[in-house]
Amino acid sequence: MDPLDFALSDAPYAQQQEESRRVDELLGLRTQEVEALIAGEDTRERRYWIGLPVSALLTPYSEIHLMLSRLLQARRVVDLGAGYGRMGFVIAKHFPHLDFLGIEVVEERVNEGSAALARYGASGRLVQGDLTKMPLPEADTYFLYDYGSQSAIEKTLDDLRTRSLHEAVTVVGRGGATRSLIEKKHLWLSGVVEPEHFRNFSIYRSAAAVHP
Ligand SMILES: C[S@@+](CC[C@H](N)C(=O)[O-])C[C@H]1O[C@@H](n2cnc3c(N)ncnc32)[C@H](O)[C@@H]1O
Repeated sequence: MDPLDFALSDAPYAQQQEESRRVDELLGLRTQEVEALIAGEDTRERRYWIGLPVSALLTPYSEIHLMLSRLLQARRVVDLGAGYGRMGFVIAKHFPHLDFLGIEVVEERVNEGSAALARYGASGRLVQGDLTKMPLPEADTYFLYDYGSQSAIEKTLDDLRTRSLHEAVTVVGRGGATRSLIEKKHLWLSGVVEPEHFRNFSIYRSAAAVHP
């Protein structure tokens, strides 16, 4: 059975996390092992989510599937702070028409995730990069899950606003910091087109994303 044939259920969150742990295992994605390996290092900061449980670090596969199934107009999706690239596997299996790029700052996660994506035959890419120091990659849809410090997220939201002046932008926001910043300071995303709210994430669209 394909590991990405996970149950597409609205099971309790703990069950979705447990199922995702098994999917990681079946994909040969050694998330627990890599996290344990890098947890001993104190040169990189907690804003990279080092030292936290994998279940807190990563979005469950089933939830990623739910968000992608709501993004019917998407063509190219960028995961900003992509961890091990779980989104790339869901896209390869269930939404192959989508182009995927994941940007992740922690090299060990990128190496582990890229190798597993290649073994799975996924065409999406996971690349190493620091979002605070690089231009925003081009896409129509972005996934933003509290990836770093508040100022880092603010910089990304400013970059997205600049992009939205020319292109329609859809942002899937996950986590308290991201959602609160979008709703308090980025009315171009949350105040024009009514957002769609789900338990752990919200979908925000710039006006042009609805009326291109
Ligand atoms: C909460 S995790 C989310 C992972 C993935 N998007 C998911 O939902 O499963 C946030 C990720 O962002 C990464 N990150 C933090 N700061 C970053 C930066 N400046 N540039 C790129 N990635 C960053 C962290 O290392 C971490 O893996």
